[in-house]
Amino acid sequence: MVKIFINGFGNIGRRIASALATDKEFQFLGVAKYTPDERIKEAYEQHFDVYAPEENLDAFKKMGYDVAGTVKEAIQKSDLVIDAAKDGLGYDNKEKYYIPMSKPAIFQGGEDRFGERSVADMIHNSRVNYEKAFGKKYVIQGSCNVTGLGRVMQPLIDAYGKDIKRFDATLIRRWADLEDKKEVKDSIEWDRDPHHQNDVGDFIKTPPLYVDAFKVPSRMMHLHQLYVRFNNHSPTKEAIIQLFEKEFGIAVLHSAKGTADVRKKAMDLGFPYGDTGMVHIHADVLKIQDDVLKIAYSDDQTGMVIPENHILLQAMILRRNKKDAMERTDRLFRMSEKKRLLTKEFQ
Ligand SMILES: NC(=O)c1ccc[n+]([C@@H]2O[C@H](COP(=O)([O-])OP(=O)(O)OC[C@H]3O[C@@H](n4cnc5c(N)ncnc54)[C@H](OP(=O)(O)O)[C@@H]3O)[C@@H](O)[C@H]2O)c1
Repeated sequence: MVKIFINGFGNIGRRIASALATDKEFQFLGVAKYTPDERIKEAYEQHFDVYAPEENLDAFKKMGYDVAGTVKEAIQKSDLVIDAAKDGLGYDNKEKYYIPMSKPAIFQGGEDRFGERSVADMIHNSRVNYEKAFGKKYVIQGSCNVTGLGRVMQPLIDAYGKDIKRFDATLIRRWADLEDKKEVKDSIEWDRDPHHQNDVGDFIKTPPLYVDAFKVPSRMMHLHQLYVRFNNHSPTKEAIIQLFEKEFGIAVLHSAKGTADVRKKAMDLGFPYGDTGMVHIHADVLKIQDDVLKIAYSDDQTGMVIPENHILLQAMILRRNKKDAMERTDRLFRMSEKKRLLTKEFQ
């Protein structure tokens, strides 16, 4: 059985870990903790083996926290590492462990695709370039925003590609995740050079996409406003809605009033971590104005990339055909069922 280790137990690592622990296809070795704090108890409760860096073992011991071994030992035992480190630290892990130990790794969207600290030569988006990851040693799973953009843009390109002139996206980004302790600052901040534009450009070259990004004081998802400019008239609203209703990981909602409505409903419905794992197209504000189609959709920041990591794993390690991989992921994360429930709640 293929052995997987998760290096990092933050917002993303903990979610991937609890999903992988229930997938009988892989042997889940455990998670890495770097700081000896309370969150380790969450790993114990789920019976995960916890590994710590060698230089911190004493600190864990002092706090009375048991570990199964060092991070290095866990990586040595694994066939693939899912790196879920804080933004940018995946690069250091690659230099320190993955290259010297010749271990394949999946990186998260906070790592660099370009420049001196680039960790991989591709960003994965299951809707666009699943097969490209076959047999690759290092791949970045696009961030939540980048994943959402690919998921919404590619169906439009498949259906209307020749007629689309350009995409413009304004990303309204949440300040922090629900479980983050950091303060949510009362300000709207802009990003001078959003990485999302180049990241999406890694897997969708044309039509061009231009991105602006703003961070707002919310913990409840991102909201994207995507303008699609056509050479002539835009297709009808009905045609666009029908197109998205068929898509994996997209729910078309008609009556949500804001991102918190969707998040709270996911919690009420008992979805693990309150994640939907999807983008939600808000049909009540989907507009056609002459040659421009305006789509507003919310993007579940923490949940989006978890099923994506599972799909990517199947490409890199098993080279599984895409339909089978998506079906397995759908079953593990109950994606179709969640979509059905959300669609019913917000019809
Ligand atoms: N949060 C989101 O919504 C989201 C969505 C999509 C993608 N991502 C991407 O996913 C990655 C992780 O984000 P996150 O939100 O999970 O961050 P996070 O909650 O801040 O957690 C990061 C974890 O990294 C651990 N860590 C520290 N040093 C490490 C090292 N050298 N190697 C591995 N782990 C280390 C920390 O462990 P200790 O606590 O034990 O110190 C911490 O728990 C980032 O690239 C981020 O951009 C995040």
